[in-house]
Amino acid sequence: MKFIVLTLFKEMFEAFVNTSIIKRAIDKNIVSIDVVDIRDFTEDKHNRVDFPPYGGGSGMIISAQPLSAAIDYSIEKLSCENKNIEIIYMSPRGKVLNYSISKQISLSNSNYIIICGHYEGIDERVIEEYNIKEISIGDYVLTGGELACQVLMDSVIRLLPGAITEDSLVEESHTNNLLEYPQYTKPYDFRGRKVPDVLISGHHKNIADYRKMESIRITKKFRPDLIDKYNKEKNNSKKEGN
Ligand code: ADE
Repeated sequence: MKFIVLTLFKEMFEAFVNTSIIKRAIDKNIVSIDVVDIRDFTEDKHNRVDFPPYGGGSGMIISAQPLSAAIDYSIEKLSCENKNIEIIYMSPRGKVLNYSISKQISLSNSNYIIICGHYEGIDERVIEEYNIKEISIGDYVLTGGELACQVLMDSVIRLLPGAITEDSLVEESHTNNLLEYPQYTKPYDFRGRKVPDVLISGHHKNIADYRKMESIRITKKFRPDLIDKYNKEKNNSKKEGN
């Protein structure tokens, strides 16, 4: 999968592409991430990319000219691949990211151009012109789309085959609308708090049952809204005989 990120702050991606699982996924050619500076495409003689909004108001808007040129360049770069090209704009008004969106993207036969806005946003006509999808990472406003873009890419890349061991994905939070059970490691006794006996019993079935119960308990405690979804899907799969 290929990502081309359009931003005015390339430096914000340096640690992201050079660290841990994302770096390994890039080194293993599971994913590529090109970070492109929108400013490189401006035709403004003062190198400007943003201007005040028509109609007045605070802040600056990234103008259509450099942004569309950066998009055209990215489309051209990806067009030799036999894959769909999708364009995403990270925006607080977009569809709120969740596990299912990340999973869908990870399974798609597409490459992605991701636009990171800054300041007050981007010219609306670019969104219309390229039929751009908008994704938010939550109901709050960030100073720019760069962190949101990293959240999106991180949540997708770790789901790509080979990025992390498949076992880690099977029981993690949100895979089946349940949160993950609590985990323990050495030492056995931490300030008098001992690891639950069942986990050192070596009895795999009992351990699996205990973890399932704990998942349900934790989900009820922290995210009661997910339990309804969990029960609904469980009942559906029972009806289908799975
Ligand atoms: N840009 C600014 N705020 C954002 C948010 N909540 N999600 C995605 N992009 C953003």
